[in-house]
Amino acid sequence: MCGIVAYLGDKEAYPILINGLKRLEYRGYDSAGVALINDGAMRIYKCQGKVSDLEAHVNGQSTAGTLGMGHTRWATHGQPNDVNAHPHASNSGDLAIIHNGIIENYAPIKEELRKRGHVFRSDTDTEVLAHLIDDVRVTEGVDLAEAVRLALQSVVGAYAIVVLDTHSPDLMVAARRSSPLVIGIGDDGAHYLASDATPIVEHTRNVVYLEDGEIAVMQRGHGLRIRNIKNQVKTPFIQELELHLEALEKGGYDHFMLKEIHEQPRSIRDSMRGRLNLAKGEVVLGGIKEHEQKFVQAKRVLIVGCGTSWHAGLVGEYLFEELARIPVEVEYASEFRYRNPIVNEDDIVIAISQSGETADTLAAIELAKSRGATIIGICNVVGSSIARVTHAGSYTHAGPEIGVASTKAFTAQVTVLTLMAMMIGQRKGTLGGSAFHRLLNELDSIPDKVQRLLKAEPQIKRIAEIYQHANNALYLGRGYSFPVALEGALKLKEISYIHAEGYPAAEMKHGPIALIDEEMPVIVIATKGASYEKVVSNIQEVKARKGIVIAIVTEGDRVVKDLADHTIEIPETADPLVPLLSVIPLQLLSYHIAVMRGCNVDQPRNLAKSVTVE
Ligand code: G6P
Repeated sequence: MCGIVAYLGDKEAYPILINGLKRLEYRGYDSAGVALINDGAMRIYKCQGKVSDLEAHVNGQSTAGTLGMGHTRWATHGQPNDVNAHPHASNSGDLAIIHNGIIENYAPIKEELRKRGHVFRSDTDTEVLAHLIDDVRVTEGVDLAEAVRLALQSVVGAYAIVVLDTHSPDLMVAARRSSPLVIGIGDDGAHYLASDATPIVEHTRNVVYLEDGEIAVMQRGHGLRIRNIKNQVKTPFIQELELHLEALEKGGYDHFMLKEIHEQPRSIRDSMRGRLNLAKGEVVLGGIKEHEQKFVQAKRVLIVGCGTSWHAGLVGEYLFEELARIPVEVEYASEFRYRNPIVNEDDIVIAISQSGETADTLAAIELAKSRGATIIGICNVVGSSIARVTHAGSYTHAGPEIGVASTKAFTAQVTVLTLMAMMIGQRKGTLGGSAFHRLLNELDSIPDKVQRLLKAEPQIKRIAEIYQHANNALYLGRGYSFPVALEGALKLKEISYIHAEGYPAAEMKHGPIALIDEEMPVIVIATKGASYEKVVSNIQEVKARKGIVIAIVTEGDRVVKDLADHTIEIPETADPLVPLLSVIPLQLLSYHIAVMRGCNVDQPRNLAKSVTVE
């Protein structure tokens, strides 16, 4: 949500900023802008639209300068237009800021500054902060770094900011609270700043993750200094990035989403690597080993997450209850944080997040932590905020996910949840010897089965062609396939803007059955397993009302084939592992429908990949 990039070094900043913004565009893409300082003067270019629109807007104008910052926006306060785009300048125009987050008390600050003669041009909370910092700088007679520190003391909300000032043309100041910022340190003494490491990795592997409440000051010739808002000096902890550049490229695919769907045989394998030991017949999750006993004794597991991660959590509920016999509650992080939830010290809370930055999930963790629960993170982004605030955790190792609609992150989350439930089930004795071994072997074969399943893409594309103009779609599943139905519906609505709903198949008769007609496709996950016959009956109910059925079935199925309008086969597997296979045709179906409808698959309207505001 909003991408931030900044550079201070010996090279021209503009190409570095534009390139960085393109890498960050998945975070927000309704407007973009840059600010450059050259010869003591500030130039700001910004406009509504994507980074490519910004490039066109800047074309032919001066972009000189070795200090600059760029921003790609996901609107919170004020419409996405040229004026509301970042950077925002102060009243004098000498200082500019880019910001990710929300300043909650911007209204009283704005009012106060207005009384003192400040004139505001935009509707944003960010502009207020630019005015405030410059005002503090002038009235207190302090330098830029101190002005930022003092101004932030009166700010309530979440932010990652970068501030530049023509009075300090060799200085870049950044600060964070509940919004991520990474600093890259180049071999040539250059400094890079970004919302995540994706714009930095091509320049340097040495990074510092700024902590909450910290202010970073980068000065030409003086390196990096960090203080906190209370003015205590902090020693920067330099880490080496594990990210690789190829992971951030499309690699010959038309879209990141398609690439990420096709990466799943590898990403699922990577999620299991070193954790699943067939020879020894065990699962070891090193990151949570220390808390294994607590897990075994837990009376309850609470799972929190948002969006697709919440759907993975629902699969986790079925897994933990079946394999480890622990009661599970799955909560939307946004609901959990604002209730007065009952959390006990012997609860295990699993927080699931691809980005590791989702504001609601972070807040839910803090709440559960304050009540004494043990918090286990399942994150994809290494070093992310959630990975750092949890007591322990397991990374999903799916690699960077750039497409806004989550695909490989979901299957990686479900893989890690499966490993976790199996490990605890084995320790508890609820998942006995041969059942454990069977499941272990089956899990090991999943990446190959996914590979095989991906061959169904041409057939799925043909189905997409038929239903690309649908206005509504219904997704049905039972048991492990119910969360997959929700996920399938989410994928379709996110990227194709077709209204879609996921339902437990048996619930259809309590409402959605009224929608069945000859137009709306009903996508049913009807694989062999515990509730197969029941789902077949649900398909009969749809067909009896002349509905259209697209069924996901187990290879070789004849019964559903005779009933449904279309069937997509997936390899046979154990019930708990079906989600890892059945979700894949649903991802492909959504992808192809969206492409056929001319939608921007990787950057769907109004959405953002990393939701750092509540
Ligand atoms: C956004 C993304 C979704 C994602 C959700 C939760 O809405 O568009 O794809 O599932 O946030 O994000 P997280 O990073 O916490 O998994």
